[in-house]
Parts: sequence; structure tokens; C-alpha cells
Amino acid sequence: MTQASNQQEIRRQGVLGVHSLDHFVMDVPDLAEAKKYFDLFGLEVKEEGATLGLYCYGGSQRWGIIRQGTPKKLAGLCFGCFADDLPRFKEHLDKQGVSFEGDDQSVRFADPMGLPLEIRIAARTANNELAPFDANGGSSDKRAAPLRSECERTRPRRLSHLAMFTGDLDDGINFYRDVLGLRLSDRSLHIVAFMHAPHGSDHHTIALLGGTGPGLHHTSWEVSSVNEVGVGANHMALNGFDYSWGLGRHVLGSNYFHYVRDPWGSWTEYSAGMDYIPANVDWKDSDLGPEDSFYLWGPDVPAGFTDNLEQA
Ligand SMILES: [Fe+2]
Repeated sequence: MTQASNQQEIRRQGVLGVHSLDHFVMDVPDLAEAKKYFDLFGLEVKEEGATLGLYCYGGSQRWGIIRQGTPKKLAGLCFGCFADDLPRFKEHLDKQGVSFEGDDQSVRFADPMGLPLEIRIAARTANNELAPFDANGGSSDKRAAPLRSECERTRPRRLSHLAMFTGDLDDGINFYRDVLGLRLSDRSLHIVAFMHAPHGSDHHTIALLGGTGPGLHHTSWEVSSVNEVGVGANHMALNGFDYSWGLGRHVLGSNYFHYVRDPWGSWTEYSAGMDYIPANVDWKDSDLGPEDSFYLWGPDVPAGFTDNLEQA
């Protein structure tokens, strides 16, 4: 089966919406510091002219573009769409009263917080189905755990999602639903909302946090097991990045997590085992208080976890 025909099969027919988060753009004051950090995290960091490109080992998708800039900030998001949806998006943006620049490959505009956005014809990067999850438990005839000295580094396989501050949460939900076609998965009051692409996606493609925006809260990177979450977190801690939250399990999304605070006060998440919303499923969203929705188990949330240092 070709990739193209496979994409057609997992498309929600008759619905206009982006299919994937293609990449993010972030400015940081010191590219050398960024190169060191993301390399330690397990990504392949390539020097590309005056920027850094973030890749997962073995993949050609550039998930992040890191530019030199002060102060640190989330500088843009690019979403992927099907080729025949791009002209529809142009008409749709006009109807929505969103001013944009466009060509035959993409449209560029801004969200209500002024964050630059792009919708681009691009290959699907969303998962086609529930991501593989390796229970990595005990074995009846041999030891399942590797020797610590022989343990392989955690290498995330894809960008799972991105979470950002968006100002008024309802305004953010409405914009990303009405303009980009994302759907609300679940929310927690006016604190956080999780949204997914309609053509088959993990439980969240993006997460929006209420409060002063814009700003990056975290990027989240998919790994294959709880063990990989722990090995990655341990490697970061041994290299000085021990301000973290995890190991734990979220309720909304169900993923096992460990967040590491980056050099700029935002976070980078190892994530395993997230819920999946197929293209033919209308997920029933819930609105739960934080005591029931934030995490099922895990350590106390560290101080400053939900601070937006880009607006401090
Ligand atoms: Fe996350």
C-alpha cells in the first residue's frame, strides 16, 4: 500500500482541518546551549545555516527549528494539511475574517495572541494508529532489563505534541477549532485544553494553557515504553537537568510522562502510551477539575511548572 493511499484511508471525509503538527519554531539566546540540551534529550540536532534543526534519529522530519534570538520565545507553529485542502483553507480563512499571506504551498497568519502560524501542504506526521507501546516487563526465561552499563540512550521517535499558553482559554479553543479545524479532546476548567487533529491523531496534537500568552509550555516527544521515559529522565538528571516532574501518568491522554525543565524555563516531555482518536471516532470531550484530570499518580508538581516565563 502506498503512503498516499494510506493517507486517504485515514482521512475524515468532508471535514476541513489540519492533519498534523509539522514543526515548531523557537528562539533562544544561545544556540550552543540548545544544541547541548536537545542532544542530551536524545534528539538529532543538525546545524543548518544560522539555525538548528531538531530531528529524531533515523527520521527526515524536521520537528523543530531553533533560531538565535533574545529573549527566548515560541516563534511559530506549522501544521500540515492535505494538498486539496489548501485552497479550501484560503476560502475558509477569508470567511473567518483572518488575514493571511499565501502561495501554492502554504498560508501564513497569526493566532489571537500574535503567534505566527502556517498551514502547509505536507506529509502526514500524525500517527496512523495507536502508537506502539512496549510493556517491557519481566520475562520468564531471561532477564528483561539491560545492564545499566549497556543501556541504550532514549531516542524519541516523533514529536507527540506541543503545549502553549494562549491567553483566554475559550478564545484559544475557539480559534484553533474554527480556523484550523482541531477538535476539543478534553479540558480542565479554564486551566488547560487538549485538542486533536480530526483525521486520526493522538489524544492531543496541541495543548492550550489559559493565562497570559503566548509562550511555550512544553514540547512532548514520543517514546516506546515507560522504561524509555525513565532512562531518558535519568540521563538528563545525570547531566545536570534534574529539575523535573515525573515519573507519572496523566489522566487526559493517559500517557506516562516525565518533564525536564529546559535552560529557558519551559519543559521537554518524554511521553509513552498516549490515547489515540481514529478519524472515524467522535471523541466525547470531558471537562474535569484538576484534582481528577491532571495526573493519576506521580510526584508533587514542582514549583513554577505552569509559569509562563516568556511573559514574566
Ligand atoms: Fe504533554
